[in-house]
Amino acid sequence: MARKNTRYVCQSCGAVHPRWSGRCDACGEWNSIVEEIADSAPIGGKAGKGGKGGGNARRLALVALDGETGQVARRRTGIAEFDRVSGGGLVPGSALLVGGDPGIGKSTLLLQVAAALGAETRVAYVTGEESVDQVRMRAERLGVAKAPVGLAAATDLTTILSTLNGPDAPEIVVIDSIQTMYIDALDSAPGTVAQVRACAQELIRAAKRRGFAVLLVGHVTKEGTIAGPRVLEHMVDTVLYFEGERGHQFRILRAVKNRFGPTDEIGVFEMTGKGLAEVPNPSRLFLSERDEPVSGAVVFAGLEGSRPVLVEIQALVAPSPLGTPRRAVIGWDGGRLAMVLAVLEARAGIHFSSNDVYLNVAGGLRISEPAADLAVAAALISSLTGRPAPQDSVVFGEIGLSGEVRPVAQTEARLKEAAKLGFSRALAPRLGRNAGGAGALQVRGIGDIADLVMIFGDKAPAARAALLGGAEA
Ligand code: TYD
Ligand code: MG
Repeated sequence: MARKNTRYVCQSCGAVHPRWSGRCDACGEWNSIVEEIADSAPIGGKAGKGGKGGGNARRLALVALDGETGQVARRRTGIAEFDRVSGGGLVPGSALLVGGDPGIGKSTLLLQVAAALGAETRVAYVTGEESVDQVRMRAERLGVAKAPVGLAAATDLTTILSTLNGPDAPEIVVIDSIQTMYIDALDSAPGTVAQVRACAQELIRAAKRRGFAVLLVGHVTKEGTIAGPRVLEHMVDTVLYFEGERGHQFRILRAVKNRFGPTDEIGVFEMTGKGLAEVPNPSRLFLSERDEPVSGAVVFAGLEGSRPVLVEIQALVAPSPLGTPRRAVIGWDGGRLAMVLAVLEARAGIHFSSNDVYLNVAGGLRISEPAADLAVAAALISSLTGRPAPQDSVVFGEIGLSGEVRPVAQTEARLKEAAKLGFSRALAPRLGRNAGGAGALQVRGIGDIADLVMIFGDKAPAARAALLGGAEA
């Protein structure tokens, strides 16, 4: 009987079909038809009844933009890195999605968050992935076993929702993970697009109605039958991605969407034997410690959300045995690397075409800022010429296609962070008239890619020597 309530909708054109098929007849798209729950209550009243001008249909009261708003009491966890990324704590009635690769630490993070909130409010942690005993063992390991958190192992969403409807319903609900939850009314298996969307929709609706904040865990998965968090991004209020390189213990929580706060904010954690530890000063972490200067390593003064972060960019340029040389990038955009290589080639006459190029951002950080262009270019030239970059310098700036170096946002904050960590010089875009931001740092203005080549290249050893040897002089 329940099956009558489902329908098959093309995700591409919206056409409704009576049964599933591989191709939508209406638009011709393949694999776009997905099972959905049909709305049981018709929207806006039945057409027959509405014929007489919609008689006793309920109407909305439209209000002015300007009005009294109840102060939203955000729930702070006390885990500063998490609070900042979430925009200052959890908002009642909101939905937050934490996405990430399996094994990256999502369950660990949310158990720590749940435990931190348990002290001041009612928190429920519903796991569909592990048994109660497994979660208890983890809580023991994290040292939060005594925290007042309501724990349940369940996957049937109907049961979960009726629990959340009870008299002392929790104010914070963690669902780990949305891919394991299912609704009986749907034929599809848990983890399919239809189930994931329907479950999330029900949870979000309940959260809005009852005013609890729901935190959903979503595994990022390869394209296939299992639905990843992408299908949920537009439904939830906040999307956080938990990322990191498997070989590193550092984890970065990144806001990619936030209706209640800034995006591009990051929180940095370190996975330890006792769970995730906050890293309040990430710059130290992304700089590799070494006494001897080496070629190809450049410190980039970057910006992650509101925070300046220094990170080392490493390049290796080596003669290629292949006809088509390799370009391998970790932590940066491959397209952007191709652009920087092309600009160096066309505007400065530096040729990489017979060389393999490897680029790596130290510490497992992922950089998306164009401001890293200049640091990447410096690392590439340094590796090619075998000349180390000045060790006490940071580098930043955006490179345009004509080879010019453009100013970037928040120069002052970047320079300040560099000075704080003991750097004394910066290679940066030429500062404008109000160049007050340099502070203790000696800034060398780079107007053009040619200026950079002067520093590392063979063409002007004197200029290079001046910068390298400045400290000794
Ligand atoms: P987990 O939170 O289970 O990942 P996810 O929920 O994203 O799949 O984290 C699993 C990994 O974290 C696992 O490889 C073990 C490691 N870990 C630690 O190193 N220290 C700890 O204290 C905990 C709880 C886990
Ligand atoms: Mg997990």
